[in-house]
Amino acid sequence: MTEKIRIQGKQIVDGVVPISGAKNAALPLLAATLLSSEKIVLRNVPPLQDVRTMLSLLDDIGVRFHLKSDSPYASTVELQADTVNDFRASYDIVKRMRASILVLGPLLARFGECYVSLPGGCAIGVRPVDLHLQGMEALGATVSLKDGYIHATSSKGLKGTEFEFPQPTVTGTENMMMAAVLADGKTILKNAAREPEIVDLAKCLNKMGARITGHGSATIEIDGVTRLHSADHAVVPDRIEAGTYAIAAGITHGRVDLKGGNFRELLPGFIEKMTEAGLIFTDIENGLRVESAEKISPVDLETAPFPGYPTDLQAQSMALLCIASGTSNIYEHIWENRFMHVAELARMGANIKVTGTHACIYGVDQLLGAPVYATDLRASFSLVLAALAAEGTTVLDRVYHLDRGYCKIEKKFAECSVKIERFK
Ligand code: EPU
Repeated sequence: MTEKIRIQGKQIVDGVVPISGAKNAALPLLAATLLSSEKIVLRNVPPLQDVRTMLSLLDDIGVRFHLKSDSPYASTVELQADTVNDFRASYDIVKRMRASILVLGPLLARFGECYVSLPGGCAIGVRPVDLHLQGMEALGATVSLKDGYIHATSSKGLKGTEFEFPQPTVTGTENMMMAAVLADGKTILKNAAREPEIVDLAKCLNKMGARITGHGSATIEIDGVTRLHSADHAVVPDRIEAGTYAIAAGITHGRVDLKGGNFRELLPGFIEKMTEAGLIFTDIENGLRVESAEKISPVDLETAPFPGYPTDLQAQSMALLCIASGTSNIYEHIWENRFMHVAELARMGANIKVTGTHACIYGVDQLLGAPVYATDLRASFSLVLAALAAEGTTVLDRVYHLDRGYCKIEKKFAECSVKIERFK
């Protein structure tokens, strides 16, 4: 039997939420440890299911690691890839977590060979990896597909290159960066993704001895080196977790102090739009206070690569706009199927009309509790948010989606006076 969450509606968020390290930074950082035979120490690693999946993949490959829990919200992991004996990411693991593709670049760069299962589609879209493969080929790798696996080899080593992404891709940019750090000569990546998690990866790689510049801009330059060494790095805070709890304050007309990072820098597109919707952001020491206006105003927003509005906050934002005083529009430009939460929000009394990748949200006075089920990570949290504002009780099924990417939500909500209950 899968776990469920029961949420009594009409609760008000009021308190402090310590923001954990970013899932989407921790995953590439863990993969990057394959690039050196020396010990890498990663701090502020969030205790999440996806992190455990990446560690089990690295374990299969032969990476030794030791994990120490520092608090309910953060761990330190020491990893050493000096006994790597398998260059394979099996279908069994990749089907659980698509970010497993992140071992492609490091394995190829350091060992000259890897087999990575082709990820299939998933709930939010088709999610091809063609740009990752084109990038590896541009670096001189030979790539073939057989029995559902990508087989990439570079018997003569990778060679620096100039590569322009036809569209920005986050993990594609990360894979290319990790492959190019050990290539012979200079690589220039154009139209690269600019997300803070990419900047964090580049910072860690540079601590390991890589020579990367331009990270955070659309052009990244990488001067290849022959080897990388030990390093100690703390994972950047999770801007998506921060944005999610900001919306929790907004939708309950409450207040939250998000602690642990410079969220203004990490969430520019989000803060601009949410200010328009009626959220009030104030700088506090080591964080940001978020309060809500009495009424939520309707807004139009479109998801875009960083620094634009993050697709990973689209579902949660939609929950908020369901109770706005008027009609809002959301255009989802990154994932073609990321409106799975709409049908569930509708069961809670929301009035939303979807046409392709456009959702028109007609604000309602009141959401109503209902039994609902989670379809993907971010969609699940949008239902939690709607449930907090709703009248009555909501039971959310398939909570495992939440646990992939949100750390200890009952405990974090308890820190801001909100009770949610998990049961089987
Ligand atoms: N794309 C291609 N070909 C490729 C790669 C991407 O066509 O080879 C397309 C995708 O189909 C999509 C767009 O490019 O339309 C952008 O995809 P991107 O590659 O940037 O996404 P990703 O790297 O697979 C990461 C995050 C996602 C987040 C997206 C967009 C990680 C581990 N995952 O995915 O996070 O939505 O960037 O910001 O970093 C989540 O955490 O809930 C999540 C889904």
